[in-house]
Amino acid sequence: MIFESSDRALHDHLARVTGRAAVAASRFVGSGDKVGVDHAAVVAMRDAFETVPVDASIVVGEGEKDEAPMLYAGERLGAGGPEVDVAVDPVDGTRLAAEARPGSVAVLAAAPRGALLDPGHVFYMEKLICVGAGATLSLERSLTENLQILASALERPLSSLRVAVQSRPRNQGYIDEARDAGASVVPFADGDVIESLRAARGDGVDLLIGIGGAPEGVLTSVAVAALGGHMQARLAPQTAGERERADAAGQTHGELLRLHDLAAAPGIFVLTAVTDAAGLAAPRRVDDGFVTESLVIDGNGDARTIVAQHPRV
Ligand code: FBP
Repeated sequence: MIFESSDRALHDHLARVTGRAAVAASRFVGSGDKVGVDHAAVVAMRDAFETVPVDASIVVGEGEKDEAPMLYAGERLGAGGPEVDVAVDPVDGTRLAAEARPGSVAVLAAAPRGALLDPGHVFYMEKLICVGAGATLSLERSLTENLQILASALERPLSSLRVAVQSRPRNQGYIDEARDAGASVVPFADGDVIESLRAARGDGVDLLIGIGGAPEGVLTSVAVAALGGHMQARLAPQTAGERERADAAGQTHGELLRLHDLAAAPGIFVLTAVTDAAGLAAPRRVDDGFVTESLVIDGNGDARTIVAQHPRV
């Protein structure tokens, strides 16, 4: 059986998986309990995946088997069908959900077997993401130079460019340089999948740059490739321990990764809002269950919203 990224029945199945995770997580919205948010979503996502007609292998999951009881890297999922690799993040923005703030999503990506980069022992990734017009931007150039190139490609003054950077001390150099160059910085606390999508679509953000999660980077690359956006990345271990584990496993890091290194073949990207996010509403209660809103992007860049009903949990 061949994997077709435009298979609408498969889109519906996958949106049910992220939808169930979002419903389960939504019970913890505003609870202050980010572990509870994540755990509920992991269990629901794992359970919902059982009936999806694919032979799935997790490349990006909740960690390795000895640290994650479910959705661990290497775990096989699905009811059988085309061979796919999947990257999952049952909730990106667990803190946002726990604090009832917008921008939290349940997300996954599926692509033909072997197509997704395995970030292995490295948790962090440096990323540069923008619309396709910025295809010559590179992590090997300075941010100032990249902003000049982007401004001229978009035929806009550099001062009109908006640069999304995750607000972490490790990214302060990017924040300072973007401001010194005259651009405006759109800092975000958490949830770099949503911010990466905005950058790839030029939706209120022209460029995303900085170091965030490696799993989120792999997931995002499937959507960026489909949307015709531009992305470069580098695995960026943040601690000596992270570097040592990667080195001991013979894993390289620090090299420039282009889109085809992250996602080598077209895939399907699906996310469901846990709290209001990307124009999608959080799960809402109806008489006999919950209604979720999901975004599905296939390998041709076709994006559609799926509104689905789920039984009460
Ligand atoms: P979680 O929801 O899994 O906690 O991730 C939130 C997030 O902000 C990601 O979007 C981002 O890639 C990552 O954390 C950054 O990691 P850190 O919080 O350790 O800086």
